[in-house]
Amino acid sequence: MPRLMQSTLTEHANSQARDRPCASCHMPLAEGAKHHGFGQVRRATWLRRKLDVHVELTGWQSLSVRLEPVNPAHGFPTGDLFRRLEIGAELVAPSGASLARDVRHLGREFALGPGGARQQTADNRIFNHAVELELDVSCGDEPGNHLRWWVTLQRVAFHDPREPSRSEIESEVVIHRGELCDTQKERQR
Ligand code: HEC
Repeated sequence: MPRLMQSTLTEHANSQARDRPCASCHMPLAEGAKHHGFGQVRRATWLRRKLDVHVELTGWQSLSVRLEPVNPAHGFPTGDLFRRLEIGAELVAPSGASLARDVRHLGREFALGPGGARQQTADNRIFNHAVELELDVSCGDEPGNHLRWWVTLQRVAFHDPREPSRSEIESEVVIHRGELCDTQKERQR
């Protein structure tokens, strides 16, 4: 898929890490031997070091999530057209019932143009700078609620442009997750 790679190359040329060769990240030295291939992009521990997250309840009854790329070398995520980051939070009652939920996606949108050619219509991925989202969830007044949050890298098999949450997910890696509210203290994994 040459066009996919072309877009990653352009993103790389416009990034802060434009002088770092692809292999410096994608074939790092580990225990004296080189890891070949792109295996690390599936590993949560590796991904976690490439994307910092700061999560905070705000006075406006919302959850602020700040995502900061570490040494960004291209869009996060890049590659497949429908790879995306899911940023979500759900307020869960002591009974396990879901009280509120807000889920957002950072990725690309496409539409079919004249002649059936796919054209990019939106792109809210992370590039050189931090991205901040305000999720519409908070702890609520009842004691014992848990506010779960997550940042997940998803590979999408079937993308639903009207209802992105309904897209079919082929595989995913949870990069960060935590819980708030019961103690008001973040317990990050
Ligand atoms: C500074 C580190 C760094 C450099 C340099 C870098 N990348 Fe990446 N790459 C990442 C990270 C982190 C991810 C995982 C998140 C994402 O998809 O953007 C990734 C993911 C990818 C993916 C997605 C793989 C998949 O399985 O879907 C492709 C393709 C890719 N990089 C290509 C490149 C190419 C081509 C270059 C050089 C032009 C390059 N990268 C340079 C850090 C880097």
